[in-house]
Amino acid sequence: MFADHGDDRKDADITEQAIRRLVHAFYARVRQDPAIGPLFNRQIDDWPAHLDTLSAFWSSVMLSTGRYKGTPMAAHMRLPIEPVFFEHWLALWGRTATDLFTPETAARFIGKAERIAESLKLGLSLR
Ligand code: HEM
Repeated sequence: MFADHGDDRKDADITEQAIRRLVHAFYARVRQDPAIGPLFNRQIDDWPAHLDTLSAFWSSVMLSTGRYKGTPMAAHMRLPIEPVFFEHWLALWGRTATDLFTPETAARFIGKAERIAESLKLGLSLR
């Protein structure tokens, strides 16, 4: 029973609200990025809906809420994404997470994103 407390403390600052803040701050930076911003701005018409979807996605990833019901691989398959785009994406994600969270919590968001980016990149390379 007491063994769970360490994990509770570790996750204490990962709340739905904190995830929303991270997602909003991240995509505000993405939209301004010279390398990957144009693709997002061309592709996404409804930014509030996209931010809701991505908040649900990260809620599922970090809090196991199951709020996200989608298929990220399929969503990216039809996009003209080059492998180098992932470096820009991950750099922005890392900077945003580091700005908003403790180093330990930022590292958890960054680690998850790196693994998901790896599998998306692999999927795209097999197109
Ligand atoms: C270079 C990297 C990336 C680019 C250019 C990119 C671009 C996009 C775009 C344009 C969409 C909207 C698709 C649409 O609605 O038509 C999208 C959706 C999404 N992206 Fe990415 N993405 C990238 C990397 C990532 C990574 C690393 C993650 C996760 C860690 C991620 C998670 C998602 C999710 C969950 C969606 C929503 C899919 C759905 O509609 O259910 N993306 N992405």
